[in-house]
Amino acid sequence: MRVPAFSPAKALFPLRLFLGLTFVYAGIQKLSDPGFLHAGAPTYIGTQLHGFASGTPGGFILETFASPIPIVAGVGVAVTEILIGLLVTAGLFTRIAAACGLGLNLLLFLTASWHTTPYFLGPDLVFTFAWLPFVLAGSAGQPALDTAVIRIPRERERGARLEAFEGSGEVAPLDLSTRRVLLAELAGVAVAIAGVSTLLKGSYSPAKSFASGAKAGKAGKAGPPSPKQAAGGSAQSAQGGSAQAPSLPKGAVKLGPGSRLPSGEAATYTDPGDGSPDILIRDSGGNLKAFSAVCTHAGCTVGYAEGTIVCPCHGGEYSSETGEVIAGPPPAPLAPKQVVEAGGQIYAVPS
Ligand code: FES
Repeated sequence: MRVPAFSPAKALFPLRLFLGLTFVYAGIQKLSDPGFLHAGAPTYIGTQLHGFASGTPGGFILETFASPIPIVAGVGVAVTEILIGLLVTAGLFTRIAAACGLGLNLLLFLTASWHTTPYFLGPDLVFTFAWLPFVLAGSAGQPALDTAVIRIPRERERGARLEAFEGSGEVAPLDLSTRRVLLAELAGVAVAIAGVSTLLKGSYSPAKSFASGAKAGKAGKAGPPSPKQAAGGSAQSAQGGSAQAPSLPKGAVKLGPGSRLPSGEAATYTDPGDGSPDILIRDSGGNLKAFSAVCTHAGCTVGYAEGTIVCPCHGGEYSSETGEVIAGPPPAPLAPKQVVEAGGQIYAVPS
């Protein structure tokens, strides 16, 4: 059976649809994330911008234009992604929209994906080159509004010219004024989609912090618990063991009451040894687990969502049981930390 050969332009049509729809989805996904605009959430845009800018060649651009206004930047990027996606999908102002998409992905390659090794595992470089054919050639030869045939002219004065096109069998370009009207309409659709996405997002429950307002080292040095505490409380290592403890490890620092951390929730605290952020998780069995909260990929601070430790910067995921990498680019597991629960209080042990 002979497979019909497509023209190069038509063969690129599926790629154009993929890029357009993916950008629409990316914008919706950002705005429907309850943590995206919520400071302190693992996926907060401000945290992401900080991570993207850290030690990357494009970081100064983010630090100059986006980091000072993270909410505006986050919403702006999401709405822009939706608009680019709609324009590219419809094939309207395709070259301009594709150039904007290329610019956005190039900036992400120089920031968000910069630390990804090997380099070809970072998606932004692939997206950058995927945009290039549409920057160079637009949607010529493909189904697109840029080259749509107007069969029923709405304005009398345009009728004769358009009929001439129909008679000749050629493709009639849309008037610039018409394209501008369509652009305005698609911009309105983009804003409407952004609004609906924002409304659909659920509420965000802020992560607990045992170090808020004070460094952990100042939260209260713990001496050995009183005999009453020792008799009534249990000490529990961060690795899940449970045993009676007559005294606390040397240098243990009180973080707060264990009742503040129900099963299935996490909290952050400052490591009393080196001052770095750590994450503390109580699993479904009531055991405490603690790990360094510094992502081993590029140093972003990890968070906790739906039973998994997640990194907001490049999608790294770690097991909340072992700290092992389960997804994304992190090259190594999170370092385990030791915490102890005794007398109803949780204590961090310096690492
Ligand atoms: S810093 Fe890249 S995945 Fe965490």
